[in-house]
Amino acid sequence: MKMIKTHRDRSSQENFLTLLQSIPVRHAMLSHTYYADRWARGQLTLEGMQLYCLQNRGEQLFQEALCVLKGRSIMRPAINGVIEQNLLDEIGHMELWLTFTAGVGLKAKDIAYAPMLPATKGLNEIFQYFTYRAKNLWESVGALFAFEAQMPAISEAKLEALDCHYASFFQNFTVASEYYEVHREADKKHAAWWLQLFEEHCLALDDRKAALRGAYNMATALVDLLEGIHRADKTHRTMDIAFLAQRFSAATYQQPIAINA
Ligand SMILES: [Fe+2]
Repeated sequence: MKMIKTHRDRSSQENFLTLLQSIPVRHAMLSHTYYADRWARGQLTLEGMQLYCLQNRGEQLFQEALCVLKGRSIMRPAINGVIEQNLLDEIGHMELWLTFTAGVGLKAKDIAYAPMLPATKGLNEIFQYFTYRAKNLWESVGALFAFEAQMPAISEAKLEALDCHYASFFQNFTVASEYYEVHREADKKHAAWWLQLFEEHCLALDDRKAALRGAYNMATALVDLLEGIHRADKTHRTMDIAFLAQRFSAATYQQPIAINA
């Protein structure tokens, strides 16, 4: 039997979508001083950029989430289809990220084994929850949306800052910056896919609440990550990687995240 949408249904769906889209805007990473001031105004030293690269595990965590959620959503074809499309687009992104990080002198093993700051551990745990444990898959999808929805604007801002202030850090700036060139465009399309999925299939009140919760928790954890990196960068301006490793040794050491390099 075909469901007929009433005016009330449409208005509640519009409210839900508006609310959902407002979350990554209200908790935008670009509004945090670490991006808005330090990154954008050229205040990062080479060591500061290395610290950022060592703590930014977004690409690995996002890809791990997609891989696992693809399996977990096998009985939910609409969600599964968007995850699969998204995953296909992620091919090669890890290599692009490692090219960027190699540009500032980091090896793949530095990235894989870098000790995590507490805020980095926090984001890692949030990703683990959405990837493996969240019972309502819409909560996980809400989190993935909040992550990807911000990436085009962040990539745009970073490309501008890299070009203006940091090009001298890289031997081949054009090759290194491709990671952000790709995300500037690809994630616009991905965010639109997630939104269409919500619009057409996230209709139950509990599912909508779960999606909003997921988006909020992801957006705020991302801002917390920046706050953690910002504090570490301000406190230890002259640190080198060895110092960082010493400073956050045994107690906060985590298993490395598997990467393809
Ligand atoms: Fe990516």
